[in-house]
Amino acid sequence: MANTTCNEAVDKSALLRKLRESTTGLNVEYTLASGETKRRVYLDSTASTLQLGIVRDVMKKYMPYYSNTHTNVHFGAKLSTREFEWAHNMVLSFVQADPEDYTAFYVGSGTTGGINRIARTLREKRPERQVVITSIMEHHSNDLPHRRNFKQVIHIPTVVNADQLGCIDLNRIEKALQEHGDNVNYVAVTGVSNVTGIVNPIYDIAELAHRYGTLVVVDAAQMAAHVPIKMSGHGNPQRDLDIVALSGHKIYTPASPGVVITRKELFEGIEPVEVGGGMVDDVHTNRYLPTQNFPDREEAGTPNIAGAIALATVLYALQKISMEYIDNEEEKLIRYAIEQLEKIDDVLIYGDTNPKKVRRTGALSFNIKEFDHSLTAAILNDYFNIAVRNACFCAHPYVREMVTDELSEYAEELSNEELEALAELHRGMVRASFGLYNVRSDVDALAEALRDICANQDFYLQNYHREPCGNFYHNTFKFDSTPIFSVQNEVNRWFAS
Ligand SMILES: Cc1ncc(COP(=O)(O)O)c(C=O)c1O
Repeated sequence: MANTTCNEAVDKSALLRKLRESTTGLNVEYTLASGETKRRVYLDSTASTLQLGIVRDVMKKYMPYYSNTHTNVHFGAKLSTREFEWAHNMVLSFVQADPEDYTAFYVGSGTTGGINRIARTLREKRPERQVVITSIMEHHSNDLPHRRNFKQVIHIPTVVNADQLGCIDLNRIEKALQEHGDNVNYVAVTGVSNVTGIVNPIYDIAELAHRYGTLVVVDAAQMAAHVPIKMSGHGNPQRDLDIVALSGHKIYTPASPGVVITRKELFEGIEPVEVGGGMVDDVHTNRYLPTQNFPDREEAGTPNIAGAIALATVLYALQKISMEYIDNEEEKLIRYAIEQLEKIDDVLIYGDTNPKKVRRTGALSFNIKEFDHSLTAAILNDYFNIAVRNACFCAHPYVREMVTDELSEYAEELSNEELEALAELHRGMVRASFGLYNVRSDVDALAEALRDICANQDFYLQNYHREPCGNFYHNTFKFDSTPIFSVQNEVNRWFAS
């Protein structure tokens, strides 16, 4: 028995290594401000993950047979229809949603498209419930669609929970549920923050929401690539999730669509909010009959068939390794990253960093004290070839809340003007984020670069200027991407070859 477990672990680690090493773009090199040419360290997976080689290889095999679905007449259509159906089932399996009760459908523009669809549908489905509870830590995509469709959106703060800075406070959610009772349509939370990488207790939140007779919608844009998702089959069914949305491009499949996985009953009994070909049983000039079949009724028009099949390829590959295993590996990496960055005096990491109190995965955000986030990000790119992202990451309220909390420690000693200047300086953060292809040496490269920046601030300041948009640019070093890649050049070369 012990041997079997050991072999399984070995197998998983070998499969993960194979996936990791196949990643497209791990060996990309750029020439830097110093003139040196170096391999890029990609720490921007929260925005978009790199493509896994398995997608490239499987899609190369599929493309000769590619065809539109919605007919079973010719061979290519039969093949594509079968694989496209399988791609839906694969999603259900990946998020552990019982196909009897749940359906998965693809949507055009990532999680954003999915959450807009969810908000519009639930407004139609339960029009008497005009309140949505969400948190301050949400990406705008899990905030603005609710604001657009409902009379009131309540944002649960995260810094009030002094013992777990940056986390959702369940007591506050419960209070809001008590206060707004039957008016609450749903509670919408992210599974993992795209700013701090903090993992939310979504199953506790589901239990709470269900206890008060409302629904739970989970934004899994960040969660899907890092943490297992279990929508149904909990011992206590109150912990099951009602709706989940995710983005293919954030789970190693660029050019793939978003997905919504929902209890069928929530999208039944009303007209789908998007109409067109593929979702109707019959059309006359004066009326039409939407089909009752899922997922067709939610996939008006021609879906991104190839993108969906590509995404399902990755989900199947990840499932073979198991998300529990990947989660465990990634948690070790984020802990290592926090440990390394915490050793640098001038670096401040946002949110509680104690792993015993707060679970994180995939991302962390920080600032070098009294140094602009845009300047830090530009230097990391131009001098160290480390790709990070900076500013507010489409999560302005959360970033503002965390930064303001950080500044409160200066409140006593600084004048209002000084405090304002400091707030201006830190109206944003630098984010380092990770995928399954990142390893400890990537973290070491980041830590070393940050130590260098902290030690040589004057040198870097002299070499940069700030433009009116607020971003910093190098005074002399300019990057031209055209010689590396341009579609026009590639097309011209292709014809010339
Ligand atoms: C937590 C979270 N939700 C939603 C989104 C929106 O995803 P997409 O741009 O794929 O629609 C993002 C994107 O960064 C995100 O991080």
